[in-house]
Amino acid sequence: MSNYHIKHLEEYYKVYRKSVREPKVFWEEIAEEHFVWRKRWDKVLSWDFKKPEIKWYEGAKLNITENCIDRHLRTNGNKTAILFEPNNPDEEAQHITYNRLYERVNQFANVLKSQGIKKGDRVCIYLPMIPELAISLLACARIGAIHSVVFAGFSATALSSRINDSDCKMVITSDGSYRGKKTIDLKGIVDEGLEECANVETVLVVNRINSEINMKEGRDKWLQPLLDDASKECEPEIMDAEDPLFILYTSGSTGQPKGMVHTTAGYMVYTAYTFKNVFNYRANDVYWCTADIGWITGHSYIVYGPLANGATTVMFEGVPSYPDYGRFWEVVEKHKITQFYTAPTAIRALAKEKLDYVDKYDLSSLKVLGSVGEPINEEAWHWYNDNVGHKKSPIVDTWWQTETGGIMISPLPYVTPTIPTYATLPFIGIQPALMDENGEEIHGNQVDGRLCIKFPWPSMARTIWGNHQRYKETYFSAYEKKYFTGDGALRDATGYYRITGRVDDVIIVSGHNLGTAPIEDAVNEHPAVAESAIVGFPHDIKGNALYGYVILKETGESRDQTNLRKEINQIITEHIGPIAKLDKIQFTVGLPKTRSGKIMRRILRKIASKDTSNLGDTSTLLNPEVVQEIMDNAL
Ligand code: WTA
Repeated sequence: MSNYHIKHLEEYYKVYRKSVREPKVFWEEIAEEHFVWRKRWDKVLSWDFKKPEIKWYEGAKLNITENCIDRHLRTNGNKTAILFEPNNPDEEAQHITYNRLYERVNQFANVLKSQGIKKGDRVCIYLPMIPELAISLLACARIGAIHSVVFAGFSATALSSRINDSDCKMVITSDGSYRGKKTIDLKGIVDEGLEECANVETVLVVNRINSEINMKEGRDKWLQPLLDDASKECEPEIMDAEDPLFILYTSGSTGQPKGMVHTTAGYMVYTAYTFKNVFNYRANDVYWCTADIGWITGHSYIVYGPLANGATTVMFEGVPSYPDYGRFWEVVEKHKITQFYTAPTAIRALAKEKLDYVDKYDLSSLKVLGSVGEPINEEAWHWYNDNVGHKKSPIVDTWWQTETGGIMISPLPYVTPTIPTYATLPFIGIQPALMDENGEEIHGNQVDGRLCIKFPWPSMARTIWGNHQRYKETYFSAYEKKYFTGDGALRDATGYYRITGRVDDVIIVSGHNLGTAPIEDAVNEHPAVAESAIVGFPHDIKGNALYGYVILKETGESRDQTNLRKEINQIITEHIGPIAKLDKIQFTVGLPKTRSGKIMRRILRKIASKDTSNLGDTSTLLNPEVVQEIMDNAL
């Protein structure tokens, strides 16, 4: 990509105005200047939020890996593309150059082909944060297979339901993974999950921890010997702009996770362009995003965005607390990190520890700090600004979603003056709108409402895999001709946005989106449980934690409540994963319900948050007496 960045606030407003007045001209120029195409587009954009149908760069032909790898070889072949920092600090870091990445991606792509994977096939990737994870995404993209990465902290049940939903033919995994002091038996989880997945023909296994594992004859194959035999050249599959690049699941407020489908050209253009500007990326930078590639942040801002810019992107296998709470800062010093992008939950956890863990290290290489995944509270913002950035590195508080593919509202470092807890201004090309309860847009400043986007942007998800109707209902039906984000926001006097949090039943715990419905379904599987309701409550480190109200079946026998709580969390761990465990479980005889039978979560949320001074109107409840009972026994 060319080296030009937006330099000051006036220029931002100027470019922003252009991007909004003439979006097609604007995005055409960006696409022309910064990428390689096999064939030019016929049409920059066509859209209809009613259907909904969105197409960017229709008619264009390309392969994203040519943009992320091949085109950098001539000038930057020996530059580090991926810098791998292992879990164990005594294990040597790996510098994978663009030349080497080219060979490894091609070899992997040839292995996929030799195992019968073709353009359009779905491949599930269930790997820890090791180089093979990034390489497997790129190998799929090389041959036009659609990757579906499942975060390697999800349980066997969560894995199998995602594999089946998008009908994956192959799973790529490892024997196990390292996480701090622990090792995790990933292959065991895959084996259990695959009992439910009839259509998976092949499992490719990376050897990461040298453990003894079960290899199912005919299905499971070690990856390395196949790679050793594979050619280092693989012609890229030439894709249409709107061919799917990947599926990534995200929680909804109801029902099963939604397989968000991202397509090729628009996603590439937007993630690359945002990466460059939001992180003020320059040629010799060493950029580190601490997210896992199992989430959208890792897809867009560890793999595709940085590599499309020819950047050096760090992949960290470990955790912030191992071998001690100084690990992040040790890595920053060791690799002279220039941009550091993490989640508020990590900052809050580290801010609880001795300052010495930060102060010991030389962090002077840092020039931009990023935050993503949930609102960053003021205290955490200041800790980050004072102790990590030494008030010299601007903090970019980036608001976006799995569905948006790329960063939507964020300061530009050294351009946008920041205010703690404000994501500030819309990125170039993004047109936010705040909506009131009557479905009308709220104009002017110093207002708050529900956050929508009223014009398409290149990296928006195009559908939900296998369920376009749900895509329409979830995102395009609440407000006419607008994409509804599910978040609330306020716009201050200067037009800055502050995200106030979810307005639906999605709860963000440690930066992970959790829908209450699937957790309630899991809890209700317990034979002693009649009904349950789950809400979020504020938590010092996680941002939100989960509070479960559980009605037990009347069997006459008394049960030990401590054991029951353990069993309920065990079921949640099996169905979803440990991230969805309940912090508090209150057994109750009833739940406050409306006359139509809907649980009044607003009241339950207030009780869980110990904010019972004003419970609002409870007169419409079918069973108002239960509210007092719940309050008396609140945890
Ligand atoms: C929340 C993560 C406040 C928001 C990239 C959104 C944020 C959801 C921020 C999407 C932020 C993300 N400030 N809230 N900077 N970033 N969120 O799909 O509620 O994992 O809707 O994408 O996280 O989470 P997801």
